[in-house]
Amino acid sequence: MQGEKKILYSAVQPTNNLTIGNYIGAVSNWVNLQNSYDCVFAIANMHAITVRQNPAELRKNTLSLLALYIACGIDPQKCVLYLQSHVHEHAELAWVLNTFTYVGEMERMTQFKDKSARHADNINMGLMDYPVLMAADILLYLADVVPVGVDQRQHLEITRDIAVRFNNIYSPTFVVPEGLYMKVGAKIGDLLDPSKKMSKSAENANGSVFMSDDRDTIIRKFKRAVTDSGSEIKYDPENKPGVSNLLSIYSVFTGKGMEECEREFSGCGYGDFKLAVGEAVADKLTPIQAEQARLLSDKAYLDGILREGAEKASARARRTLAKVYKKIGFYQV
Ligand code: TRP
Repeated sequence: MQGEKKILYSAVQPTNNLTIGNYIGAVSNWVNLQNSYDCVFAIANMHAITVRQNPAELRKNTLSLLALYIACGIDPQKCVLYLQSHVHEHAELAWVLNTFTYVGEMERMTQFKDKSARHADNINMGLMDYPVLMAADILLYLADVVPVGVDQRQHLEITRDIAVRFNNIYSPTFVVPEGLYMKVGAKIGDLLDPSKKMSKSAENANGSVFMSDDRDTIIRKFKRAVTDSGSEIKYDPENKPGVSNLLSIYSVFTGKGMEECEREFSGCGYGDFKLAVGEAVADKLTPIQAEQARLLSDKAYLDGILREGAEKASARARRTLAKVYKKIGFYQV
């Protein structure tokens, strides 16, 4: 623990466009958490290369994600904000942790199985080792809590297992982290098929709203969103998945409670309702996008943030790795 506050760690991969689902489930929560925790946030480019990336795009997406983090309100003075590949301890600890992780455990990971099916031509060792690198990320910073989506639960569980395993063989070294699974907006559904999670890589891009979509695109996508039979606008995910998904989005983007939202739309037609949700999202995203663009035009500033972030992160990572090397018997001079 650094000072009084508990340590919080999370990361996002710089792969293509973030959706508003990613925003609600991750970045917007981080903004709220940064005052109550000692926060460390990474851009996980080492995880990103487990599926083939275009180098120029990966570079571009990295800066773009950094600018987006800051535009959304992540404060680089309050948090440690850095690029994973800038801190070599991640790769080094991952190597050590590999020797405390069993092949069978990795083969059973749901995400590994899914991605292997999707990228059958490139089932590389990194893809299989992805959870161990993630464990290294988290354990290096002695994180107490890790806010992630439920799709990362299994990775967090294996992180805990690896930490306990190491601590039991040697002596308490790693903090065993708790997952912080977000409730509200934890799963924003696809606009065209609310039973599916809104995803970066949906088949139909009209079902996903991206952080980079302009106002007209956002409104058009919401106008086309599926609703349900009946005409009532109330939150009932079982029977009204489409309407409920839109209400959740509206509630998060306006900061209004669900009951207030329902009241606001009572007697309203679906058409006007969908337009109102689209406008609320566009109103929120427009200034974020403008700030992101402004930051992206100041590369020197962003490079400075990354340099500073890497320095702060390395100082912490180095301490943990030194302890680990000592415990496992690496000779030090
Ligand atoms: N695997 C995470 C995701 O895709 C990203 C990630 C990498 C991460 N390292 C992490 C999340 C450490 C939390 C903690 O969402």
